[in-house]
Amino acid sequence: MTMAESRLFKPLRIGTVETKHRIVMPAASRMRATDDHIPTDLMLEYYTQRAAVPGTLIITEANLVSPEHSGYTNAPGIWNAEQIAAWRKITDAVHSKGSSMFLQVMALGRMADPSEAKKEGFTIVGASDIPWMAGAVVPKVMTVEDVTRTVQQFGQAAKNAVEAGFDGIELLAGNGMLVEQFLQDVSNQRDDQYGGSIENRSRFTHEILQAMVDAIGAQRVGVRFSPWSEYLGLGMDDPVPQYSDILRKANDLSLSHVHLITSRVKGSDDVVSAETLDFAYNLFHGPIILAGGFTGELARKLVDEEYLDKDIAVAFGRQFIANPDLVFRIREGLALNDYDRSSFYALKDPEGYIDYPFSEEYLAQRRLGNA
Ligand SMILES: Cc1cc2nc3c(=O)[nH]c(=O)nc-3n(C[C@H](O)[C@H](O)[C@H](O)COP(=O)(O)O)c2cc1C
Repeated sequence: MTMAESRLFKPLRIGTVETKHRIVMPAASRMRATDDHIPTDLMLEYYTQRAAVPGTLIITEANLVSPEHSGYTNAPGIWNAEQIAAWRKITDAVHSKGSSMFLQVMALGRMADPSEAKKEGFTIVGASDIPWMAGAVVPKVMTVEDVTRTVQQFGQAAKNAVEAGFDGIELLAGNGMLVEQFLQDVSNQRDDQYGGSIENRSRFTHEILQAMVDAIGAQRVGVRFSPWSEYLGLGMDDPVPQYSDILRKANDLSLSHVHLITSRVKGSDDVVSAETLDFAYNLFHGPIILAGGFTGELARKLVDEEYLDKDIAVAFGRQFIANPDLVFRIREGLALNDYDRSSFYALKDPEGYIDYPFSEEYLAQRRLGNA
């Protein structure tokens, strides 16, 4: 079977979106927004490039949910009118290419940058007073009021995302961020209704997902987990019972998708590991997006040979950063551009951002009106 005949290039319904293939661009923070967390024309150009192959689902970089949960320099946010208007330009451009777009949203919790906290005047918070590593800031323990307000902010973010033209929203409940800090016992030692048991540790995530579903409907809400990651001070001895609980809840909510990160990556570094996510496939019955260390051939095997009974899409992080026409290149078996790690987070810098070239083959097809 050729690559073009693979199930990888068959349509897939993800919530309200119908993709034309199963290659997804996952969230990748690139720090090119303004100092006030407003998306820029540089970002418009970047995302428009990556929407080049029609029917692609793009998930934005993680957006800050509110000023009190800020903490990444030049990351975009989704709480005010200017941010919504700037994102609207980007979603319009992506839609005009025939592609679709979900907004990823997060709170950083104890991972917030202390210099940003000082500059913007917010307090670094967490589930418990446990720093992410020795010597890092000890976060202030969130009160139940803080938790309730934060849940509402995520509900509002979902409404704002729809107003900004997104097809849906994805909650970042992995990669070491606040929501995951509540899920895991290594960072959550609370003795109230938000800690102390599997059920209680799931509560914050579940309440946020419920608030987003109430705001915009389940078919526009997805969630991302990294159960096996030992990134940024996380990593439970046995994550399976905890993640099984929250995956069951995600399934009961009928979310648009669950997005899982394999044990092959730790953040954006490759690691050797053989932990599987099979437990998750059995618990969530909707579409699953998988990310972490994929090549075109691994992705093809996964959807054509390993999980024929599942609706799986495969996300390519670093390769999508370096290849605006990634989907075309994989389909045609073309070589990929190498990514340059040093420009991943280069604040506001066009270099290493919008200058990765399209393939000659893609450009030729586009000139003929075939791409
Ligand atoms: C520069 C960079 C920024 C990232 N930012 C985010 C992010 O904002 N949210 C998120 O969920 N994952 C983020 N990730 C993780 C990617 O979505 C993806 O899971 C990871 O790169 C592994 O996939 P890959 O092996 O295809 O690169 C980031 C990765 C990179 C390389």
